[in-house]
Amino acid sequence: MPENRLYLPAEIDFACHNLSDREEPRCVFMVKPDYFDIVDVKNPYMEGNRHTTQKDRAWQQWQVIYNLYKDLEEKGVLNEVAILDGIAGCEDMVFCANQSLPWMVKGSKTVVLSHMRYPSRQKEVAAIGAFYLRKGYHVLQLATADLLEGNGDVIPHPGKQLLWAGYGHRSGIDALREVAELLQVPVIPLRLVSDYFYHLDTCFVPLGEDTVMLCPDAFDDMSILAIEKVFANVYRVSRKEAVETFSLNAHCLIYPAARFAILQKGSKEVLGILQKEGFEIMETETGEFIKSGGSVFCMKMMYY
Ligand code: ARG
Repeated sequence: MPENRLYLPAEIDFACHNLSDREEPRCVFMVKPDYFDIVDVKNPYMEGNRHTTQKDRAWQQWQVIYNLYKDLEEKGVLNEVAILDGIAGCEDMVFCANQSLPWMVKGSKTVVLSHMRYPSRQKEVAAIGAFYLRKGYHVLQLATADLLEGNGDVIPHPGKQLLWAGYGHRSGIDALREVAELLQVPVIPLRLVSDYFYHLDTCFVPLGEDTVMLCPDAFDDMSILAIEKVFANVYRVSRKEAVETFSLNAHCLIYPAARFAILQKGSKEVLGILQKEGFEIMETETGEFIKSGGSVFCMKMMYY
């Protein structure tokens, strides 16, 4: 059984079947796009898009995703769909995958709050922390000054006690080491080497205990080897598709009885993979948010 610490790729001495089991969360929250805007360039997708977002289209696209989660709640797949208000001056707060990392630590609901890279985004974190307090979580702060951007960079292995973590743009290795300690879980850091894949959730989507889809251009060679050590099936998606359609920002919900994927319309490779893997697929339009470098996965947070 692996220890609860950071595992550099060369140190991985376990396989998927050595990991303890974990139940996937059944609740989701979203943040309303009240103040959504593009005011600066935090990632390459934002370049040339300053103040180009169309407010009513953004609201409409957000609402469709919210309705998809509400449908999953009605079907009994999800237990709760919560909504938080946006905050004036927090133009990126709608991307609520980034401010926190919720986890179940020995049966107790726990969350680590992020150290966001950009000042305008640092202002988002307190309101998200307050939400978790209302939900009865232990709310933990990082001691290190290093960066961490929550579930945008730290993605759980489906059904197992293991976290995959991107670093190099928005999160750092020291923060990830601390996450392993605070959440008492093994963490595998993956080095992100391309500006277009600035968060792990732009290029890496686990589809099951043994299966992941990813864009190889996003990672260094050691990181790919680490992934191949734990996942028996690795689907490779082209850089062109990942950048043009944001298809690797799909939100895959993986439960024992059923698997669902919500993603931006128009992908071919990812669509084929999801069909082959037997997902129930929901394609939707997130163009206004892609201008800011985010799509479905970034616009929600799964929590316990
Ligand atoms: N404009 C936002 C930023 O650059 C987009 C965040 C997208 N979120 C994500 N998890 N990839 O911070």
